[in-house]
Amino acid sequence: MKKGATLADFLENTTNLDLSKVILSLAEGSKIISNLISNAGIADILGVTGETNVQGETVQKLDDLSNKILMDYLRASETAAGYLSEENEGIVTLHENGKYIISVDPLDGSSNIDACAPIGTIFNIVERLSPAGSVNDADFFQTGNHTKAAGYFIYGSSTILVITTGNGVNGFTLNTENHGYYLSHPDIKTSENGKIYSLNQGNIEKYEEGMKKFVSYCSAIDKETSRPYSLRYIGSMVGDVHRNLIKGGIFIYPANKGEKKGKLRLLYECIPMAFVTEQAGGKATDGNQRILDLQPVELHERTAIFIGSKNLVDKAHEFLNG
Ligand code: AHG
Ligand code: MN
Ligand code: MN
Repeated sequence: MKKGATLADFLENTTNLDLSKVILSLAEGSKIISNLISNAGIADILGVTGETNVQGETVQKLDDLSNKILMDYLRASETAAGYLSEENEGIVTLHENGKYIISVDPLDGSSNIDACAPIGTIFNIVERLSPAGSVNDADFFQTGNHTKAAGYFIYGSSTILVITTGNGVNGFTLNTENHGYYLSHPDIKTSENGKIYSLNQGNIEKYEEGMKKFVSYCSAIDKETSRPYSLRYIGSMVGDVHRNLIKGGIFIYPANKGEKKGKLRLLYECIPMAFVTEQAGGKATDGNQRILDLQPVELHERTAIFIGSKNLVDKAHEFLNG
């Protein structure tokens, strides 16, 4: 499709009406979140709520607001059946007759809010398995191979929706004058090679040996392979993965000594980002298996992740296994 197409037109031509309704509800919710983020300092919604979420992490006011907004907007779509969020302990039934199950990280990278750095919303959509009535956990425990649509909204220098319905990846920029999403990045393809590595290098003493060696490889001088690579790390998965998708690179949140499953959540961070990345020609693994092949067994489970340009992910694997 040509640049400038509206999100609604694009969906009408590429996916079914029931799924489109869910995606358009998320898009409407994201516009409110984007506006809140832009005005956060004036509206007195910076800072923390004083509560911790189910994972024991500090909840920012905007984490909480974004979660409520997305839930409300999804409820307005009668095809949405169930909702899982980083900010809710359990699952929520939105419509007993709904068809789709939505898992979200309402605000990713929220420790960056006060610093005015890019943050995002991540979503994954699958079809429900259960009959009409309340949804159950099993509806959410589907591998990424069953994902029907996934993507993220990045609230950065622009607000952009990057989405896949399993047929390539497209980016839509939010027009701040008429509040519509317009196709600005058609058919995004990521480079097979990259010169950026993104990880929290401050944790290096907690890394396993193979990871330490990969970091040494990235920072070593070698003219032929254009090393050293550049280290870029925002601390917002959406920001880091999006930059690498556009420019080529690898984002890693590894398992650390003592944190065998890493930090990032499988259902609403890693699976959707992996689906987008694979659809753009990249690769995403837990250091061993494809992220999309991992069978979820807990709502808020974590996994290590290696995601981005294919050759860089393969290179990291050589060090992990060598
Ligand atoms: P969230 O704000 O949704 O809790 O996610 C934060 C995540 C992710 O976005 C980022 O890549 C990672 O935490 C950063 O973690 P470190 O501060 O440990 O590097
Ligand atoms: Mn997150
Ligand atoms: Mn979050």
